Amino acid sequence: MKARKLKFISLLLVLAMVLAACNSNSDSSSGDGNSDKDAKLDIFSWWTGAGEEDGLNALIELFKEKHPDVEVENAAVAGGAGTNAKAVLASRMQGDDPPATFQVHGGAELNEGWVAAGKMEPLNDLYEEEGWNDKFPQDLIDMVSKDGNIYSVPVNIHRGNVLWYNTKVFEENGIEVPTTFDEWFAAADKLQEAGVTPLALGDKEPWTATQLFETTLLGTLGPDDYNKLFTGELSFKDEKVKQAAETFKKMLSYINEDHSSRNWQDASQLVANGEAAMNVMGDWAKGYFVNDLNLKVKEDFGWAETPETDGEFMVITDTFGLPKGVSNPDDVKKFLSVLGSVEGQDVFNPLKGSIPARTDADVSKYDAYGQETIEEFKQASLVPSLAHGSAAPEGFLTKVNQAVNIFVTQQDVDQFIDSLDQASSELK
Ligand code: GAL
Repeated sequence: MKARKLKFISLLLVLAMVLAACNSNSDSSSGDGNSDKDAKLDIFSWWTGAGEEDGLNALIELFKEKHPDVEVENAAVAGGAGTNAKAVLASRMQGDDPPATFQVHGGAELNEGWVAAGKMEPLNDLYEEEGWNDKFPQDLIDMVSKDGNIYSVPVNIHRGNVLWYNTKVFEENGIEVPTTFDEWFAAADKLQEAGVTPLALGDKEPWTATQLFETTLLGTLGPDDYNKLFTGELSFKDEKVKQAAETFKKMLSYINEDHSSRNWQDASQLVANGEAAMNVMGDWAKGYFVNDLNLKVKEDFGWAETPETDGEFMVITDTFGLPKGVSNPDDVKKFLSVLGSVEGQDVFNPLKGSIPARTDADVSKYDAYGQETIEEFKQASLVPSLAHGSAAPEGFLTKVNQAVNIFVTQQDVDQFIDSLDQASSELK
């Protein structure tokens, strides 16, 4: 009898200890500072491989120099534009296992996604402490804010509406850089006759075709009407959207045959080696051209705004925040402080192809493309990218990617417009 009683008491004790341990774990998620000294700082993104990882690696190195005591894990998941990473992140977040910090686009992806779901900590205090409120452009702070709170720190600004071209192919074929759709089609015809693929596309991951379409939409509608599509003020059934779809369709008749088996790097490579003359891609392509393919800015490749988007800037900003429930919030804030510093931005962006999000970065660290883009950003009308999650919530984007993907093979404009219109119910 006595022995059984003792056994029971020791069982209760073990149970009490387990419960205490559980409690201290959950306490650690909400308290100030780090309660779990052994927690790794796992940095989640989709920056792996060619053209993507150099900037992140440089930023992590800088962080390690400044905070050698913090153990960092690069938890990147491969796939352009977060093709795979976004799904992995969603399951981690749903399973209450958030990474210490993760890549998220400013705009709808952050605000209507993770912030609306109550998964992010506000960072107003950090902005205050670091004096960031007048160091980032207000437009950008707005993209990472909801209901008066700031939820992430932008590491960069990428431009989405860039037309890249092979300078030698243009020269050899007497092509002037096209600025209008008519000029673009005239150039494409000339190139096709000369046996060069006019436009490289790699839509193995469908977002690249969505990006080509959104730049066509912007060129056709202009920034005001483009924005109205996502606020519900302009219908996807509008005649101008149809016109953009027709233009997009015509552009698709100039692409490489093997487009569906290539990703964005493989498509950019066609331009780099002269098999294709142009591609439309965000300026992470510049990072790839220069870092991975050793091409020279202006000499080997040139750039222009995509047709009829002169003075317009399709903004894609990669940002990082502090998820609720992490065990090492102090370490995360240390990382965000480095990422948001002039030094952090200036080691990351020259390698990534983007421009610094801060307005006081050191311009001399950027090449001719970067310097030009920094200037243009100041003057341009800014519009959010749909393909990269800023213009509209993820549910809408997923449906648009599907519609675009079907359109690339079937090329049925009416069906495409219907699908876009149906998808727009996700905007309400
Ligand atoms: C974008 C991201 C860029 C770049 C690109 C290709 O969504 O903002 O930083 O990584 O995808 O993967």
